[in-house]
Amino acid sequence: MSPPDWYKNAIFYEVYVRAFRDSHGDGHGDLQGLTQKLDYLKDLGVDCLWLMPIYPSPLKDDGYDIADYYGIHPDYGTLDDFKSLLKAAHARGIRIITDLVLNHTSDQHPWFQASRREKTSRYRDYYVWSDTDKKYSDARIIFVDTERSNWTWDSAAGQYYWHRFYSSQPDLNYDNPAVRAEMLNVMKFWLDLGVDGFRADAVPYLFEREGTNCENLAETHSYLKELRRYIDKHYPDRILLCEANQWPRDVRAYFGEDDEFHMAFHFPLMPRVFMSIRRGDSEPIHWALEQTPPIPPNSQWCTFLRNHDELTLEMVSEEDRQWMWKEYAPDPRMRLNLGIRRRLAPLLDNDQRKIELAYSLLFTLPGSPIIYYGDEIGMGDNISLHDRNGVRTPMQWDDSANAGFSEAKDIFAPVIDNSMFRLRDVNVASQKAKPNSLLQTIQKMIAVRKKHSALGYGYLTWHNLNTRAVAAYSRTHKKDRLFVLNNLSDSKQTVHMDVAGRSLTDILRNKIFPVTNDQLQIELEPYEYLWLETTK
Ligand code: GLC
Repeated sequence: MSPPDWYKNAIFYEVYVRAFRDSHGDGHGDLQGLTQKLDYLKDLGVDCLWLMPIYPSPLKDDGYDIADYYGIHPDYGTLDDFKSLLKAAHARGIRIITDLVLNHTSDQHPWFQASRREKTSRYRDYYVWSDTDKKYSDARIIFVDTERSNWTWDSAAGQYYWHRFYSSQPDLNYDNPAVRAEMLNVMKFWLDLGVDGFRADAVPYLFEREGTNCENLAETHSYLKELRRYIDKHYPDRILLCEANQWPRDVRAYFGEDDEFHMAFHFPLMPRVFMSIRRGDSEPIHWALEQTPPIPPNSQWCTFLRNHDELTLEMVSEEDRQWMWKEYAPDPRMRLNLGIRRRLAPLLDNDQRKIELAYSLLFTLPGSPIIYYGDEIGMGDNISLHDRNGVRTPMQWDDSANAGFSEAKDIFAPVIDNSMFRLRDVNVASQKAKPNSLLQTIQKMIAVRKKHSALGYGYLTWHNLNTRAVAAYSRTHKKDRLFVLNNLSDSKQTVHMDVAGRSLTDILRNKIFPVTNDQLQIELEPYEYLWLETTK
């Protein structure tokens, strides 16, 4: 039995099922395909998968527009396939959380269809209707590239309906107790099947109140606490992971006092990792850590470098956003809404030193890390594909046609094979065979991280060194203490650090560094990172 706080020191992995492995030969990945690949994930050291939405959906927002909360999209298989996947994952000690989209449904959902057609339907009040499109005018528009308003006119209903995302995603009305009860039922259904929890999508927007920006409202928190109480009472080792793209002080509220979410994504840290690496300056990372308030004892951050969305720049200043766009999205097609639609490796110039450095930060800063599928082999992206599809292309397993993803003639999106990201190099099989490939290095980092409770549970002490080009900190948990050095710059850096002991060992490469008079002096190569432990 693993401890109830397993999530505090777990490696998460985000899977887009359509892109992972096609077992049916129809060009779309599916649940059986994912099941076939569990051993790969186990070897990598993954503890918990997060599956993007797998429900029936017209796919206007890749499944975040749900038409039936109780089924599986036919492209992905059946509920039985899902049960088999859970069983096979659990047998390997891998947990699975699924996406829980609370805020909105698809406009194709029968609730919405009934709601718009009949004023007397019991579903009328499942959505937010209004005679005017002037209400809640302080709420911002999130998909600024496509939506002009959060209200859309519906001729069948003769009213406007409210939506925070695409107009094909009407917001549910959480003031209606029936809606609140429906979502508890949805949770119960999947928890009874055995899922280990949920990544709760877009939670800040559940309620609307005039005169506010309709985000992070007290009513929203109180409903989310109700969901947590339900889980704690009936399913004590399952988790809720919060997607709230907000500043740390606002996200802090989503942990409650260990009575709301178990985990929350750390949005503000992520862009600052990229800023720090581009500027060769640890200050942005340090700033983000300083802005991060303490969280309750059973709560944990979920840290990430990239995910299925654009690299969001909502949590940076206007000036920094312009700078990030200039540096990381020089081609306007790389920009989307307030972000950058590129994958990790292309962002970091496909330079393995920089990619490893980013992972070194991910695996050693506080929080449980999540890896976005394909980023462990440094997959490229395809900016000619619409919306965020360019970062959702097929997983590359080998260098055969379709990259071992599918035997079909036509697949849902092309694999990435170009002069910078050659399929020959960017695939699982070839990186498994090649010592020091990105995949092998990440596997090693994960294995080493697992041996050190300091990296999962430890507190962080920031070390101000003689140079800001190196992010230096220690992580301490009980007797386990590690020093981490990350050279963010493209030049050599010599650092001096006060440390007690005779020598330090680099636990990734078993190299020993002598300490003289409690002073460590190390020369770091460009983008070099070291995880150091006092030599035993
Ligand atoms: C979340 C998802 C994103 C989706 C949006 C609307 O932000 O990550 O992919 O488009 O919610 O559901």
